[in-house]
Amino acid sequence: MWVFLSLLIALSGGALSLDKLNMCMDGKHHKVEPGREGDLYKQCSPWRDNACCTANTSTEAHNDNSYLYNFNWDHCGAMSPKCKNHFIQDTCFYECSPHLGPWIQKVDQSWRRERIVNVPLCMEDCHDWWEDCKNDTTCKTDWHTGWDWSSGNNKCPEGSKCSKWTDVFPTPKSMCEQIWSNSYLYTTDSKTSGRCMQLWFTGPNPNKKVAEYYLNNAQQHQGFNLTVLLCLAVALFSIRMY
Ligand SMILES: *[C@@H]1O[C@H](CO)[C@@H](O)[C@H](O)[C@H]1NC(C)=O
Ligand SMILES: *[C@@H]1O[C@H](CO)[C@@H](O)[C@H](O)[C@H]1NC(C)=O
Ligand SMILES: *[C@@H]1O[C@H](CO)[C@@H](O)[C@H](O)[C@H]1NC(C)=O
Repeated sequence: MWVFLSLLIALSGGALSLDKLNMCMDGKHHKVEPGREGDLYKQCSPWRDNACCTANTSTEAHNDNSYLYNFNWDHCGAMSPKCKNHFIQDTCFYECSPHLGPWIQKVDQSWRRERIVNVPLCMEDCHDWWEDCKNDTTCKTDWHTGWDWSSGNNKCPEGSKCSKWTDVFPTPKSMCEQIWSNSYLYTTDSKTSGRCMQLWFTGPNPNKKVAEYYLNNAQQHQGFNLTVLLCLAVALFSIRMY
């Protein structure tokens, strides 16, 4: 009976992990299933072998005030091109990545049904992003909510003021975690660690292995809990038998 139960648990765990390793979130523009997209544009092209974004989304990700989210990067004057490149990359990662399964959660929002929470970012990607935006200005720490959308694009809400980036985000960690309301988790892991997700990469997508690592670790916990529960159940059952 134990062997049978263990097998069952292992099998159900395995089936779950297969889905979560290669899937698209239920977002505003995501494809239903990941797959090849030969024509992905510029900064999104690293995902072309397996992507949750269409070619159209990848092109629009590079445009100011694109129809994707009508988001205005220049809400406190023109954003520097260096800084903007990171936001484009962030958009590519969000729209195209098929390996975010372990961090996808349901949300009750008008514009999407799922979001990502606490995706562990590689330190280099977070630091470079912050360094390249250091001389820019913004008026908000959380860019997900609280804008004035009355014009169709986001404007700084009344009462807010444009401040130096470093006053709004004193550290790379504060920026990476707060800007998209904890979609990202700051880590001190480097790109070679295999324990953090990379926004910038070339060649085969290194993030699949990372997702696999986190998925397997989470599962060990689940398996252990289930084992504990089953142990208890069997113990209780045998006590009643006597
Ligand atoms: C992408 O699709 C939208 C909506 O169908 C369209 O308005 C837009 O022009 C397209 N963009 C590109 C770059 O093809
Ligand atoms: C920010 O400004 C300083 C001083 O003007 C300059 O040395 C530095 O290169 C700038 N950094 C970026 C990322 O533009
Ligand atoms: C039980 O599972 C939860 C998550 O579902 C995990 O946080 C916790 O560490 C697990 N407990 C044990 C003893 O593994």
